[in-house]
Amino acid sequence: MILVTGAKGQLGGDVCALLDAQGRPCLGIDAEELDITDEAAVAAFFAAHPEIDSVIHCAAYTAVDRAEDDAERCFAVNANGTENLAKNAAACKFLYVSTDYVFGAVDEEPLEIDTVKAPSCIYGKTKLLGEDAVRQYCSRFFIVRTSGVFGEKNTNFIATILRLSETHASLRVVNDQFGAPTYSADLAALLVEMISTERYGIYHAANTGECTWAQLARYVLSLCGKETEVEPVSTADYGARARRPLNSRFSFRSLDENGFSRLRPWEQAVRAYLSAIGALR
Ligand SMILES: NC(=O)c1ccc[n+]([C@@H]2O[C@H](COP(=O)([O-])OP(=O)(O)OC[C@H]3O[C@@H](n4cnc5c(N)ncnc54)[C@H](OP(=O)(O)O)[C@@H]3O)[C@@H](O)[C@H]2O)c1
Repeated sequence: MILVTGAKGQLGGDVCALLDAQGRPCLGIDAEELDITDEAAVAAFFAAHPEIDSVIHCAAYTAVDRAEDDAERCFAVNANGTENLAKNAAACKFLYVSTDYVFGAVDEEPLEIDTVKAPSCIYGKTKLLGEDAVRQYCSRFFIVRTSGVFGEKNTNFIATILRLSETHASLRVVNDQFGAPTYSADLAALLVEMISTERYGIYHAANTGECTWAQLARYVLSLCGKETEVEPVSTADYGARARRPLNSRFSFRSLDENGFSRLRPWEQAVRAYLSAIGALR
């Protein structure tokens, strides 16, 4: 039985839908069913479900800017919550979804799995602590770092751009953070494949190619036939509450070396998502 946390989120929702479609036994839970920050509740949950042999842990505190003023809760969910799960699932296969924000590299080289970690915001720090907990307690683990997730089951950058385009003639969008967005349906398929293998380790997974948020916004608006202009701005000028890394270009070496396919190019994934939500022109 595969336990999926964050089952009402973008990624967890897609993982559960895929497992269901494949007829594989899956238990999808969200904060309502189990608050992962509650150590005793997590222990009781695992005691009541001895059939769980695998965990795909998608639940997280994902409000990156809010986390700067809500650090305690962010630590509780991403660090302590992950530790609570990892401790109780030490005998399980454990797949933890992490983030490009654990890095803070300033050069332009693709990020290898062992590139130095220097998270510049609370969210990144707490996700890195979550990685540490998984490595400490679980021997059969997958850590999958992803970036810029968009999916049908929650709001995301693309959905926000489309919403704002209804009321704004022009949008200021950051143009100096480089990486690639990730369609949750594509990532879910990879995670479900991974958890069926014994190819444990640390991975990077995002749609392939490279863009900035401004380039992504322009692409989305053009595909949806919106007139809204995109005004490119620097990270410094935009002034978001949380500091984000400028370089989120992933190396996919560990996917390649372990026989997993890379995700499709981000442009194709964005088009598929826009089609799925009925926003394509
Ligand atoms: N979104 C991105 O751009 C992005 C980028 C890189 C990595 N990631 C990682 O990818 C994973 C999936 O992200 P996502 O975009 O699917 O996130 P999401 O849509 O925000 O979903 C996260 C889910 O976790 C649940 N959750 C929060 N606190 C919880 C708690 N204390 N106990 C149990 N459940 C709790 C949330 O429930 P409530 O809504 O009820 O709080 C929500 O359903 C996360 O690990 C995230 O860190 C995301």
